[in-house]
Amino acid sequence: MNVKTLNFRPILYLLFTVIGGSQSKELARKIASKLDCKYVDSKITIFPDGESKITLPETLTGTVVVVQTTYPHADTNMMRALALIAKAKKTASRVIAVIPYLCYMRQDMEFLPGEIVTSKMVAKLLGATGAAKIITVDIHSNLAVNYFDVPLVNTSAIPKMAGYFRKLDLKCPMIISPDLFWSKKAKQFAEMLGAEQIALNKQRDRKTGKLKILHQKNLDLSGRDVVLIDDMISTGNSMILAARYAKSCYCRRIFAVCTHPLLVDNAEKRLMDADIDKIISSNTIEHKTNQVDVSDIIAQSIE
Ligand code: R5P
Repeated sequence: MNVKTLNFRPILYLLFTVIGGSQSKELARKIASKLDCKYVDSKITIFPDGESKITLPETLTGTVVVVQTTYPHADTNMMRALALIAKAKKTASRVIAVIPYLCYMRQDMEFLPGEIVTSKMVAKLLGATGAAKIITVDIHSNLAVNYFDVPLVNTSAIPKMAGYFRKLDLKCPMIISPDLFWSKKAKQFAEMLGAEQIALNKQRDRKTGKLKILHQKNLDLSGRDVVLIDDMISTGNSMILAARYAKSCYCRRIFAVCTHPLLVDNAEKRLMDADIDKIISSNTIEHKTNQVDVSDIIAQSIE
């Protein structure tokens, strides 16, 4: 039963405290406000060698919700998330870890001999450190979901993304996912908009990282808006390839949408240079492209 349907919900959430980790303070505050519960800020100082020293200003009891995304930078912020969980676990009755962008989920198998399945290690670490439950948004790998020993709730930004686009005056939109991998979610998104959808067959050379699109027949998209959608934009290379394809089909405007805006280095500029009109992301990672707030989706999973 969903606690939100019960009358005692406000009383239940009195026993909750939301902690804002260094990378997710704004989102954490929004989650606390949605739950109508206490918010506590974590404090951080960085040692000259790069180590993070994190302090919580008070002893936490009841259920503690740690909110810490893991970018930028992935390793550092995963370490900070683990430290916060471990500290909260010492005094809390239960720790829920909200990791809106969960890093390492792309490394979910040994693609080339000698590689490490780091997503499995991360999954085990989060549970072993004390998280009783983990909540994330649009996890990259369905395979990695099986690596967690504690319950994992994989929420999705897709309905909120669709809500955002419904308000735009799109002209006969075509939804394109840059690879087959994300096509199921892209299809969901397209259905919510009542739009057509296709997926490109993107291939990545596992050694060089180089991308190419295989056998895509050219469509006539003249006068039509295109929405490129993926779980994350990292270097931007996948979106740029997809944008080139869309342009070759004579489309009108191009929107690039993702749940997780990693946007490393000059990715944003490169996307603009590739004729992408607008980048839209959710706030799983704080970035100026954030247009879609997932705090309510996360709050609904906290019980
Ligand atoms: C890959 O499978 C992911 O879904 C994204 O397509 C990829 O990580 C995006 O990376 P980049 O922006 O570097 O092409």
